[in-house]
Amino acid sequence: TNMMRVAVIGGEGIGPEVTGQARRVLSWFTERRRLPVTLEDAEFGLEAYRRTGKVIPPETRAAIDGADAILFGATGGPETAEVPAEARREGSLLKLRRSLDLYANLRPIITDPALYEAAPLKERVLRGVDFIIVRELSSGIYFGEPRGIETGPDGSRRGFNTNSYTAEEVRRVARFAFGLARSRRGRLCSVDKANVMEASVLWREEVVALHASEFPDVALSHLYVDNAAMQIVRDPAQFDVMVTDNIFGDILSDCAAMAAGSLGMLPSASLGPADTRGRRQALYEPVHGSAPDIAGKGIANPLGSILSVAMMLRLTLGQPDDAALLERAVADALARGARTADIAEPGQAALSTAAMGDAVLASLERLAA
Ligand code: NAD
Ligand code: IPM
Ligand code: MN
Repeated sequence: TNMMRVAVIGGEGIGPEVTGQARRVLSWFTERRRLPVTLEDAEFGLEAYRRTGKVIPPETRAAIDGADAILFGATGGPETAEVPAEARREGSLLKLRRSLDLYANLRPIITDPALYEAAPLKERVLRGVDFIIVRELSSGIYFGEPRGIETGPDGSRRGFNTNSYTAEEVRRVARFAFGLARSRRGRLCSVDKANVMEASVLWREEVVALHASEFPDVALSHLYVDNAAMQIVRDPAQFDVMVTDNIFGDILSDCAAMAAGSLGMLPSASLGPADTRGRRQALYEPVHGSAPDIAGKGIANPLGSILSVAMMLRLTLGQPDDAALLERAVADALARGARTADIAEPGQAALSTAAMGDAVLASLERLAA
């Protein structure tokens, strides 16, 4: 059969809370729309470590290796100090991204009119915001060698990292971003710090060369990252596709989240290279982290995770109609006033994480009827 497999990994903090709701939504598609997918739950992080001594136990590794897609929650938090550094590195999300070669991280930012009030920006700035940050996810300063903390002969300490990109690493993520821009409004903005860093000089040279040789029809622009941060706040609607390196993409996406009303709204897809049949390793997760300040309270916004399921339906499961249906259901729930605390208006009663899941499921039922 062509049954597909999704590994569901809640992880730590609010990860399991939001992923639980996204899982219900994915199950709705398997039960009500005959989506040929089986879900396999897998442990990751602190709980897994307490039970098995490993952050990624063998069963989780097996679920990951056998999966067509991974639905991931979040990792991190104060208690992870209890996990020895060695075990943590061995099982980190960064290591997972790297081992699956997930180089293209797509972080779409869309402003729903129902959430204009929730965002700290003015409505005239928010109107028409619809862009995607393509963040390089497998290289750069997150992984460059040498790295470390060392103590000199005089006892003074030094911490250091290396920002490094090969031409091929730049080309493959840039090629992805150019292709995406071509399928959208035809504009790509590349963000770097080429006025200071050699890794960025190379980044810009490769992007310019690729533009000339393969994508002359795409309108290419460049911004330094400090200006890009300012432009995202000044006029986020100017952007179509933005491509940038690992650390800049991390920072700019949290910044851009405020145009969507909350960090809790943003989904993401992390994709690896296409095989001969065009399939890619893929991990879907909200952009936010484990949110220790609200973990365990049942109040986190699950929409970033739920919208990550929509990205999965479109990019891995080959169901663009179901993806669009789910995005319409989220918009419908918001239009009917469903709000978790992070996007609620002052004085408005906020829904729990589970009640927001209920609201999306109710909208799915209505729209599918
Ligand atoms: P965070 O994204 O966890 O939280 C930042 C702020 O946004 C917090 O105030 C939090 O309450 C709020 N927030 C985040 N998601 C929310 C949601 N769904 N609904 C409502 N509010 C939400 O960032 P942080 O506090 O800097 O990091 C906490 C931990 O998470 C750290 O250990 C960090 O390394 C980790 N982290 C993991 C990931 C990931 O797993 N992909 C991403 C970012 C951070
Ligand atoms: C993200 C997170 C991660 C990152 C952390 C948890 C390592 O902030 O996915 O945005 O920096 O990539
Ligand atoms: Mn981040």
